[in-house]
Amino acid sequence: MNIFDVEILSNEPVADKIFRLTLDAPELAKTSRAGQFIQVKVADEFTLRRPFGIASTTGGRVKIFYRVVGRGTYTLSKKVVGDYLDILGALGNGFTPCDGKILLVGGGMGLAPLLCAAEQFNSDILIGGRTKDEVTFWQSEFEPHVEKIFITTDDGSYHKKGFVTDLLPEILGDYSAVYTCGPEVMMRGVARIALDNNLPCQVSFERRMACGLGACLSCSIDTSDGRKKVCKDGPVFDAQKVFGGDKLG
Ligand code: FES
Repeated sequence: MNIFDVEILSNEPVADKIFRLTLDAPELAKTSRAGQFIQVKVADEFTLRRPFGIASTTGGRVKIFYRVVGRGTYTLSKKVVGDYLDILGALGNGFTPCDGKILLVGGGMGLAPLLCAAEQFNSDILIGGRTKDEVTFWQSEFEPHVEKIFITTDDGSYHKKGFVTDLLPEILGDYSAVYTCGPEVMMRGVARIALDNNLPCQVSFERRMACGLGACLSCSIDTSDGRKKVCKDGPVFDAQKVFGGDKLG
């Protein structure tokens, strides 16, 4: 883990309030694994860095996606090509590779780290969203990296109507593992289906993080191995240890 001063190559909106930020960061790109994240110092007036899952590491560039939800991300959205950012990373433990083809399952901004997994692993993707507008840019991001893209929308405006958990049991048979990231309720449902079918499942948690370095405990979660820090022990965990046993519902 290092601190890098990196140049912004692009910072553009791709959907409502969602931006794609591309950084010229060859050293960081070389050492990052899918599932890891970076902490961005957005501006001097913000004490805390903001965590973002790494979405791509190809061509010496690091790409992230972010949703504008507050002052920090609003300030980030105003940065322009040629500006520099202070980046800490790569942080955390990423996805562990496995043999065979992996099914990635994600929703919302949880699709960002899965995009990096799609770049690095033999995988297909199941994308869930509320509406067509929410999923089409993700579809085009994943297209170069996977063979199959499955999509569900809550309102049925695109592909299959329903949740990822409605479609997952129908397609699960072709895969040797499931990696998931997104809203916790979605990951819990995905983990239940995967584990019921005896498939290994890795879950990547998104948490608010104060330090990002394991020092403040603000990101702790319960696991069968006790309390763990998402920033240092994760963000990727074995689903059995987080959602296994009695907690699986
Ligand atoms: Fe401080 Fe995880 S963010 S311990």
